[in-house]
Amino acid sequence: MMTEYRSSEWYGGEDRNAYIHRAWMRRGVPASAFEGRPQIAIANTASDLTPCNSHLTEIAQSVKNGIYEAGGIPLELPVVSLGETQVRPTAMLWRNMAAMATEEMLRANPIDGTVLLGGCDKTIPSLLMAAASVDLPAVVVPGGPMLTGHFRNEALGCGTDVWRLSEEVRAGTLSEVAFLRSESSMIRSKGHCNTMGTASTMALVAEALGVVIPGVAGTPAPDARLLEAAHESGRLAVQLVTEDRRPSTFLTRGSFHNAIVALAAIGGSTNAVVHLLAVAGRLGIDLEVDDFDRIGAEVPLLVNLQPAGKYLMDDLYRAGGFLAVMKEVRDLLDPDALTITGRPFVDYLDDAHVWDPQVIAPRSEPLIAAAGISVLRGSLAPGGAIIKPAAASPHLLKHRGRAVVFDSIEDFHARIDDPALDIDEGSVMVLRGCGPRGYPGMPEVSNLPLPKKLLERGVRDIVRICDGRMSGTAYGTVILHVTPEAAAGGPLSLVQSGDWISLDVRNRRLDLEVSAEELAGRRPNESTVNGYANPRRGWERLYIDHVLQADQGADLDFLVGRSGAAVSRESH
Ligand code: FES
Repeated sequence: MMTEYRSSEWYGGEDRNAYIHRAWMRRGVPASAFEGRPQIAIANTASDLTPCNSHLTEIAQSVKNGIYEAGGIPLELPVVSLGETQVRPTAMLWRNMAAMATEEMLRANPIDGTVLLGGCDKTIPSLLMAAASVDLPAVVVPGGPMLTGHFRNEALGCGTDVWRLSEEVRAGTLSEVAFLRSESSMIRSKGHCNTMGTASTMALVAEALGVVIPGVAGTPAPDARLLEAAHESGRLAVQLVTEDRRPSTFLTRGSFHNAIVALAAIGGSTNAVVHLLAVAGRLGIDLEVDDFDRIGAEVPLLVNLQPAGKYLMDDLYRAGGFLAVMKEVRDLLDPDALTITGRPFVDYLDDAHVWDPQVIAPRSEPLIAAAGISVLRGSLAPGGAIIKPAAASPHLLKHRGRAVVFDSIEDFHARIDDPALDIDEGSVMVLRGCGPRGYPGMPEVSNLPLPKKLLERGVRDIVRICDGRMSGTAYGTVILHVTPEAAAGGPLSLVQSGDWISLDVRNRRLDLEVSAEELAGRRPNESTVNGYANPRRGWERLYIDHVLQADQGADLDFLVGRSGAAVSRESH
């Protein structure tokens, strides 16, 4: 008897509808392609406008070979792609749109399973959110980091060194000519950013979750072994369909526990917090922002990669890779959490080995003993805010200073280098209007550049507070994801320049030292509450009306949860 798959609802039978579904797909394809063979979509985020992912079409070819070899039918499905450096006003505004469009196209088409090809920052999160909601068998192939570029005999870390070099220009220690010369050296090959930024973080964290074949994440984009892994992932996708191994059948709280441990041990991007919260929300798994502190705060930092450290992603791969890191913290992992292969994640750690302890520190000599993300609460962030102490200056982790407030990123740019700006190394820079609703889209602006007059005096870090996000390639004592955001009426909207703010990371406090009576008499300005833009139509309107706060993953309220793959009606 012929095996029935979801796609059989389109192709099975001899009636007019089955005829239509088959006939339009034939075009040289034999009838046997529709007889009991899993139809596997390759959800491909390749795009010339997402240069970090443009090589995914080559990877898709290897995935196709694997699918055919295992008896399935591969079908390439181009999906919304987001180029982090190109898309305005911020790629994060479109993450939920990409997730929604991908989910709907997987559901709407005669698809039994999918291979998800992502890389650049928002692409793996949006694919994971889609796969979680449609709940079809799915395996992720991360596109891999680029090779290290060099300038004047120094390795260049994507993103991180852009911040560093541009600060040096502003401080007068690097010429503009030299700065511009470094531009062509920054991106050496295909692949995503080579620092421990958001793309690298999400690839590794996806592997810790269990949705990548263990050992694959972090394989450099030009490495032939990535094509082999893509081939194997294609084969696996067919097996997932025949065994009905959908995300909901193996992703558990334990999977997210392992992802949070991994996030801390690799010194990963703070953006993973909102992305993991959003994916968990799609799966109906009860994950809270405080779990990142509770599970991850005491986890040691073992990976010496920029922005927190020295090396880059191809060094990590050469040094033993992600599994070697996880082996060092094996005792902190949930041993029961399964992977896409059906075996527990911890099963894959036995053969891992650290080949270069300069890149992957041993557990006995961590780079930082307790490196996870800290969740702060207090009168300035009743819904929570986060800080990555590993990227912060130790002397600022307990600090009291006067606020210097900026109402928007434009306000910041207009005034930051004004010689009359009342600011010194003890000040606390506050940027608001950058939350999910306020900007809109929660951009990566929280790591505000320092004023020129402080840079010239040798100051390299001061406390910064924002309701937006921070690039995974950035560093500094930055408190971000302040919830509720200013545009949602959070206390951040009421801060005035000159107010005292106290930060105490050890005790997880962030407080505005202004009495409740005085705050009650203050009114936020109009643009802070209503957002910088107030679009009347399109995605931005939908987004502003429905986006949740950072502590809920900044998903849209009507996208939380799972709809499954069922389609109730047929138009033919
Ligand atoms: Fe694409 Fe960094 S810009 S990964």
